[in-house]
Amino acid sequence: MKRVLPLLFITLISFQPMAQTVADQRCAAFGKGMNLSNWLEAPWQTNWPTATGYTKADLELMKVAGIQSIRLPVCFAHIIDTVAPYYIDTNHLVFARIDSVIKWTAELQMNLIIDNHHEWTLSDSRWRNNLERFGHLWSVLASRYKYLDPEHYSFELLNEPPIFFALDSLNIIFNDAIDSIRQHTTTHSIIVSPNNGSWGRAFTTTYIPLADSNLIYTWHCYDPLNFTHQGFSWATPSFPTGMAFSSSTNWMESWLYDGINEINHWRDTFNKPIFLGEFGVGEHADDESRCQWISFMGHYLDSANINWFYWDWRWDFTMFHSHVISADSVLSCFSHALHLYGDTLISTSTPEIKMSAGDIQFYPTLISKGTTCVIKTEGVPQFNVKVFDCAGRLMLQQKFNQPEGRLPLYLEKGMYFVQITAGEQSVVKKLISD
Ligand code: BGC
Repeated sequence: MKRVLPLLFITLISFQPMAQTVADQRCAAFGKGMNLSNWLEAPWQTNWPTATGYTKADLELMKVAGIQSIRLPVCFAHIIDTVAPYYIDTNHLVFARIDSVIKWTAELQMNLIIDNHHEWTLSDSRWRNNLERFGHLWSVLASRYKYLDPEHYSFELLNEPPIFFALDSLNIIFNDAIDSIRQHTTTHSIIVSPNNGSWGRAFTTTYIPLADSNLIYTWHCYDPLNFTHQGFSWATPSFPTGMAFSSSTNWMESWLYDGINEINHWRDTFNKPIFLGEFGVGEHADDESRCQWISFMGHYLDSANINWFYWDWRWDFTMFHSHVISADSVLSCFSHALHLYGDTLISTSTPEIKMSAGDIQFYPTLISKGTTCVIKTEGVPQFNVKVFDCAGRLMLQQKFNQPEGRLPLYLEKGMYFVQITAGEQSVVKKLISD
């Protein structure tokens, strides 16, 4: 008995679940969320920021659908001077609109994220010019909003930090802004994401969480972009319509799945809270494909227990027939996948996934014309490689009869997807040719 007790004690200790941090609890409380898009982040609109972009009635309708949290994207870069001392006009109407949303969310008992959206010119050569400006903005915002209940109000430092912007530089900017906020409030949670446009694959294990203990991490998912963003003239690059999402185009599923896997892996490695701050499929994709995509997403968000904010409510990613907001006009595959309007059924059928990124390596993924890429499998005798362009066109296909192969590529500038199928496994890697 004497010998068993310590063993039992050690066993019990090692099976204690990790205590939840404040950031974990707040991230868990986000539940289902909606972005108030096409409003305060869109200064190009006439009479911006309009009084009726969203009203309390809109939030009430969201609440009826089951939405518990709001993300409010605001283009603060538009209202802060570009030169020191970086004057911010706090009488600007944008602040009155933010105050209205704060009031509505308090009355409706919803959570709110105040998100600093785009127009920050952070590039490797120019970011230092913005360091002080960025910190000053967050100092002013934190001082203004420190009175808000930290259980329900959080601050998001920057929407989609630019692709190809060095992570070290981004971390300097973020740590400086976090210090500015912490001068005013030590209790509010701050939301951050890595460089590379908040893309899931930026959450590799080389992305080390920042030091502040009250941070929540966020990522966005529109994969594959040429499917979700097809037909939008405003997208860069703009993608043609006609791209379907189905088992016949399963490289898309594997692409999406690999990204979500990366997020899970990162979360498990660092034990940090993370939620999906934006995701959506545009209305130019065909109905059947939109349904397939959202069902896939819903299934994975359920099984990985990840909270989300959909983009958007009634504009070009809408989930409502003819943009009419009601329980009768919501697309049923959306309300089912996202458990809206009282749909509590958790889908038990697993989307058909045959992919695992684990043991296939492919490099480099940033190439020039003439680069030879290397593919390594775990000893399978044969594998097949297909390269697609952004529009889903097959650019080349090659079969290898040994476990490793070399593939010289002569691709024009652009983004490509490489599907490698080895035995039962298939993975998709993104390739950029510059
Ligand atoms: C951008 C929007 C865009 C959306 C979907 C957001 O982060 O700010 O302009 O519509 O992503 O691409």
